[in-house]
Amino acid sequence: MSAADLPEHLLRPRWHPALERDYAELSTTLERLLPCVEVPMHLPWIDAILQLKRERGAVIMAHSYQSPEIFHGVADVTGDSLALAQAAKDCGADLIVLCGVHFMAETAKIISPDTRVLIPDLRAGCSLADSIAAADVRALRARHPGVPVVSYVNTTAEVKAESDACCTSANAVQVVEAMGSDRVIFLPDRYLGAYVASQTAVELMLWDGCCEVHETFTAAQARHARERFDVRLVAHPECPPEVLAEADFVGSTSAMGAWLAREKPERVALITECSMADNLRLRFPDTEFIQPCNLCPHMKRITLPNIHACLRDLSGEVMVPAGIAARARRALERMLAVGRGERV
Ligand code: 13P
Ligand code: SF4
Repeated sequence: MSAADLPEHLLRPRWHPALERDYAELSTTLERLLPCVEVPMHLPWIDAILQLKRERGAVIMAHSYQSPEIFHGVADVTGDSLALAQAAKDCGADLIVLCGVHFMAETAKIISPDTRVLIPDLRAGCSLADSIAAADVRALRARHPGVPVVSYVNTTAEVKAESDACCTSANAVQVVEAMGSDRVIFLPDRYLGAYVASQTAVELMLWDGCCEVHETFTAAQARHARERFDVRLVAHPECPPEVLAEADFVGSTSAMGAWLAREKPERVALITECSMADNLRLRFPDTEFIQPCNLCPHMKRITLPNIHACLRDLSGEVMVPAGIAARARRALERMLAVGRGERV
């Protein structure tokens, strides 16, 4: 159905009283995470998106850094970048709307080439993906002949195509070790790379990329949070090493959830993107979250109105040239094979 044929209430969502009744449970959930005056403003968009999603047969995937009204309001699949990549492979949908950043949508398209993949804002980038180009990887290979290249999924399709394997922060150590080499070129995050190097005997050659969100945390902030709020500290490995040294636990987005389930801390500060705490708070009602509110400006480009527009107009399609996709797919498949315990 083209956008012009859609009924008026789906084209231009408006508040109406029945929304309060139809979304009573969701409203209660969102009121625990957002200022309560915001919730009624989100409901018309959520309602229209859910109807359009059914109309289009779409699956909406949302990264853990998406805002609560997206994460809890409209997503079918939520999780870290590894979980979203696995879901793109397994979900069998004809249409995916990826609420995250561009490299995540590209990853879904590469893994699932027959699926149409849309991103609500094509400009949602990533400072890590922007830090390295395919020509840089070729130059590294020329300087270190025979040394395998592992690239973080936070890279463009072109960089993945030049890599032997991809990894996420959830599986970086396993992927590096699965390469069967004493030395590995690891790119582009120098902090994640330094952390992985501290966990393995494999020698890593690093690139100088950084996450613009995680690099801003400081050890002094971490100490202040601990002293002032008596919290346990959990940090993402994209943070600088002196911040990781202050943490009780260092782990990926998914590992943070697993740690909370295991440790059940009374109070915790997650040293990572702000929405992580919002999206975990419901799962751990007995834990108090002290929330350092560092927002990823790229993740926050995704909003309910632009998800609605993307489903309405089928806009924001992500395309990857076939030759690049085929080479990048090999690197991504090697990563997914490591997750299944296979030799790569
Ligand atoms: P995850 O791999 O943990 O999902 O992280 C992605 C990301 O962008 C971290 O900043
Ligand atoms: Fe990229 Fe950092 Fe944003 Fe993650 S949080 S998408 S690594 S800029």
